Amino acid sequence: MKEKIDLLIKEMEQKFKSCTSMQELNDLKVFYLGKKGVITELNNGIKDVPPSEKKDYGMEVNRARTFFNDAFEEKKEKLEEERINQKLKEETIDISLPSEKHITGSKHPFNRIIEEVEDLFVSMGYDVVDGPELEDDEHCFRLLNYTVGHPARDAQDTFYIDEEYLLRTQTSASQSRVMQANTEKSPIRVICPGKTYRRDDDATHSHQFGQVEGLVIDKNISLADLKGTLETFAKKLLGENTKVRFRPSYFPFTSPSCEVDVTCFKCGGKGCPLCKKTGWIELLGAGMVHPNVLRMGGYDPDKFTGFAFGTGLDRLAMFKYAIPDIRLMYTNDIRFLKQFNRKEED
Ligand code: PHE
Repeated sequence: MKEKIDLLIKEMEQKFKSCTSMQELNDLKVFYLGKKGVITELNNGIKDVPPSEKKDYGMEVNRARTFFNDAFEEKKEKLEEERINQKLKEETIDISLPSEKHITGSKHPFNRIIEEVEDLFVSMGYDVVDGPELEDDEHCFRLLNYTVGHPARDAQDTFYIDEEYLLRTQTSASQSRVMQANTEKSPIRVICPGKTYRRDDDATHSHQFGQVEGLVIDKNISLADLKGTLETFAKKLLGENTKVRFRPSYFPFTSPSCEVDVTCFKCGGKGCPLCKKTGWIELLGAGMVHPNVLRMGGYDPDKFTGFAFGTGLDRLAMFKYAIPDIRLMYTNDIRFLKQFNRKEED
C-alpha cells in the first residue's frame, strides 16, 4: 500500500507541476477527490481491507489526501499570483508616451474686441451700459430725431416685430435710453456695446452684427473733444501709426455729423484690395448730439452739448484679426475659432 500511495503522490506531483490554469486545477480536484475520484475510491475501498490493515490503509489514504490538499492550495496561490502579475504587466501605463492633445476653448473674436474696447473706454472714465435688443420705435428712431416717414429710416432695413416693436438697428437706441434714465440730467459718459440687426446678408454685412455706441454729454463739449477721443480710440485699438480722417456725413441725431476713416491696417495707406486701393477704411459714424435729441432726452441744449459715435464691432474685429467674411463670426466653425487660441497670448 505504501508504495502504491508513493506512486500516486508522484503522479499527483507531476500533474500539479504541469497544471497551468485554475480550470485544470479544478479538474484535478474532481479527478482525485470527486465522487468517483481516485482518492475517494481508495477511501471507499477500506471496507474490503482486512481489519488488521485498516489503520495503515486509512493512514496511507489520508497521506494521499493531505498531499493533494496541500499541493492544491499551494498551486492555487501560485496561479492567483501569476494572474495578478500578468494583469499588472498588461495594464502598465507607459508614462513616456505623448499625451493626447486637449482642445481648449478660445475667446470669440467678438468678445475679445468688446473687451478691448471696454477696457480702453473704462480707462478714460466711461461707464459700460446695456440696452435691449428688442426695442421700440420710440427709442430706436423717434427720440433720435427720426420723424415718422423720415427717409433715413429706410437706410436701416429694420426687422419690425409689429407697428411698435423692432430689433434695434443701431446701438444709438441706447443714447435715448441713457438720457431718459438719467433723471438728474447730470453729465453722461457711457459706451454701450451690443447686438444689432438689419435685413442684410453678404460678405461684409450680416443680419446680426455688433455695434458699440459712445455718448458724452456735459457742459462745453466740443467737436475737438470728439476728434481727440476718436483719434485715441483708433490709435490704441489699431496701432499708434494709424492715421484718422474725418469726412462730413449725415445722421438725424447728430449735427454736425461725420464719418471717420482710418488708414488701412493692411497696406498702411498705400492702397490694396482690402481698402479698395484708397488706403482708407471707414471705421465709424459720429457727430455732435443734435439739439433736438438733447431736448427730447430732457437736456437743455443751451446748457449742455455732447458727442456720440457708433462703430461696428464685427468690422473692428475683421480689421484687427484680418477676417475676410463677416459671416465667419457667426457660424461657429471650429477651424475659424481655434485660430484665436494662440492670439490670446498676444
Ligand atoms: N448709429 C449709426 C449707424 O449705425 C452710427 C452713429 C452713432 C452715428 C452715433 C453717429 C453717432 O450707422
